[in-house]
Amino acid sequence: MNTALTTNDFNQIVAGRRSIKKYDPTVKISRDEMTEILRKATMAPSSVNMQPWRFLIIESPKAKAILAPLSRFNQRQVETSSAVIAIFGDLNSINNAEAIYGKAVELGFMPKEVKEKQLAAISKYYEQMTPEINKETVLIDSGLVSMQLMLVARAHGYDTNAIGGYEKDKIAEAFGLDPERYVPVMLISIGKAVDSGYPSVRLPIDQVITWK
Ligand SMILES: Cc1cc2nc3c(=O)[nH]c(=O)nc-3n(C[C@H](O)[C@H](O)[C@H](O)COP(=O)(O)O)c2cc1C
Repeated sequence: MNTALTTNDFNQIVAGRRSIKKYDPTVKISRDEMTEILRKATMAPSSVNMQPWRFLIIESPKAKAILAPLSRFNQRQVETSSAVIAIFGDLNSINNAEAIYGKAVELGFMPKEVKEKQLAAISKYYEQMTPEINKETVLIDSGLVSMQLMLVARAHGYDTNAIGGYEKDKIAEAFGLDPERYVPVMLISIGKAVDSGYPSVRLPIDQVITWK
């Protein structure tokens, strides 16, 4: 039995996280709590603060029935989780630049002149950006928010599984999103664990570090 408890113990959150694939299907996460989890996750950093992540919360039996045939070998997570969060990156995230930087001025985080200067530079940067770099950027940013989401979930007493094994080329359209605009990042199942998952090995730390 997994014992993910509501906790602010960072070591417990990080060291105790495991990919959990079986959840108590009777446990639902309220929209208020899910919103709070996502709000905290979106405190993650992003390239020029453009926050390109978008979340599709698949929680109803109807939505899960749409997801199931796209979820390959990950059926149990879909069936038993409180929800599966499909994370997408918005390739049009630049459209929010004015709103984001305007709000920063309104809140006194940034003088108006700085905003104008930054927005001009950012617009220019996006104009010359290739589609490949745009996609790479939204994938990096959305990866950061995904990790933060998994850690915040544990702080709320839930467990997760990052899922890459699904029909990425079909997911947007299946849920009525424009596939040209929304890049699939990953699914994250979330719920109350019914087992403790499996411990997993990490490479020796020296193998992944280079000191210069
Ligand atoms: C991007 C990504 C995709 C993954 N896809 C799957 C998947 O499709 N199915 C699955 O059961 N686990 C999936 N995993 C979980 C990994 O197998 C797991 O994180 C890894 O084995 C380490 O185990 P841990 O998460 O318990 O520490 C994925 C993880 C990541 C980061």
